[in-house]
Amino acid sequence: MDSSDAASGGPAGAPLVVVANRLPVRCVEHDGEMRWDLSPGGLVSALTPALAGGAGMWIGWPGDGVDLAVPAEHAGIELRAVPLDDAEFEQFYLGFSNATLWPLYHDAIRAPTFHREWWYAYMSVNDRYARAVAEAAAPGATVWVHDYQLQLVPKILRAMRPDLRIGFFLHIPFPPQELFLQLPWRRPIIEGLLGADLVGFQVQGAASNFSRVARRVVGASGTDAVLDFDGRRVRVGAFPISVDTTALIKRASDPAVQGRARQIREELGSPDVVMLGVDRLDYTKGIDRRLIAVGELFAEGFLSTSRAVLVQIGVPSREEDPHYRREREHLEQLVGEINGEHSSVGRSAIHYLYQSVEVDELVALYLAADVMLVTPLRDGMNLVAKEYVACRVDATGALVLSEFAGAARELRDAAILVNPHDLDGLKQAIRHAVDLDPNEGTARMRRMRRIVRRHDVQAWARTFLAALHADSSHISTTPDPG
Ligand code: F6P
Repeated sequence: MDSSDAASGGPAGAPLVVVANRLPVRCVEHDGEMRWDLSPGGLVSALTPALAGGAGMWIGWPGDGVDLAVPAEHAGIELRAVPLDDAEFEQFYLGFSNATLWPLYHDAIRAPTFHREWWYAYMSVNDRYARAVAEAAAPGATVWVHDYQLQLVPKILRAMRPDLRIGFFLHIPFPPQELFLQLPWRRPIIEGLLGADLVGFQVQGAASNFSRVARRVVGASGTDAVLDFDGRRVRVGAFPISVDTTALIKRASDPAVQGRARQIREELGSPDVVMLGVDRLDYTKGIDRRLIAVGELFAEGFLSTSRAVLVQIGVPSREEDPHYRREREHLEQLVGEINGEHSSVGRSAIHYLYQSVEVDELVALYLAADVMLVTPLRDGMNLVAKEYVACRVDATGALVLSEFAGAARELRDAAILVNPHDLDGLKQAIRHAVDLDPNEGTARMRRMRRIVRRHDVQAWARTFLAALHADSSHISTTPDPG
């Protein structure tokens, strides 16, 4: 392709292209009218400054069942939509991405399903994304490919546009080889990723898993940090993602949000202890273990509804997938049982909301919560843990954190770490958090706040892009304390 023909990003194309499964905008209703808004979330706020003002373009899917045309530009970011038809939604999104790769990469918590038709759809949608990037990118542009839905894009794109500098970042875990090797299409996936100049992961363990598999499956040579393959050098490293700490502190310091936090506590009956769980309703999040542990603490009398309450938000997700529907039924049954046995008139043991929550309400919930329960069975990072810490502007509050969340690598010295499979350990961790000495709690929270202040999402994006542009074979990433 003659890149001066690039259809977007100005006549010469975009110097920076971000490509992710989803666009950074979402279609929402305002006063009966549908319109596009920037999606909330760290990734969007991290990349907006670099992309705004014509400096870059974001390529992605507008979402399922959206009729409104995607604007060419929003909030200064050029947008290019990659639509999926119904079959692709089923086979690429629900199928290969979320019923093959998602469970396989999350320790096979649910059995991954291997279907050849899904794989064909994954190849063809990845090809479409890569073509969209090849058309939009300026000569010598930087391209940042995101996540498990697009692992073939780096290789396809490199073949079309060898002039590009290509980075890939995986937001979810990368499994150990014992699991990854099950994948019938393991070789093309690894070759796809090795099309990048830099492949980034949340934690060093995932980076090492990848390099090990690359040496074994495609015969790449080199260390966990630098691989040689197909006559090229590919760098590999850990870049733990974070949150927009400054923006969260600003919201958490807003008197209106703080007032709402006080109101939430009153609406809950002014208990001594508010515990909070906030998760996409996903079987990887370990919500059932958490509910069972809390239920047993109510049954044993350690918790009582005059003293404590759990607020559990389950944000609807991938509702077309039977695993997710079953998980919802399972959780709702558990909540019903626990509330039936332990609530009293006017006081529920668990307040369960199956809905999305706007950002100010979420921050008010974080401020209202004495104890935050983040107990996934496996999680690439888990930004809820970091959001909670960022919002605790008075340095109070306790974080119970699964050792299987990427966030535990950075927060492990100050969070109360737990193995979510161990119900007794989970109960003990919750007891510890509820009874935490206030001075110790503040000391722990201060340590965690220092970490999320220093390593915010802007620093993450800067570090990744700087490493992508570094010529040296050594990459310096955010320190992983172990
Ligand atoms: O954590 C991986 C991820 O794909 C995120 O990027 C995304 O916000 C979340 O899961 C929800 O996924 P989906 O795009 O399938 O709704």
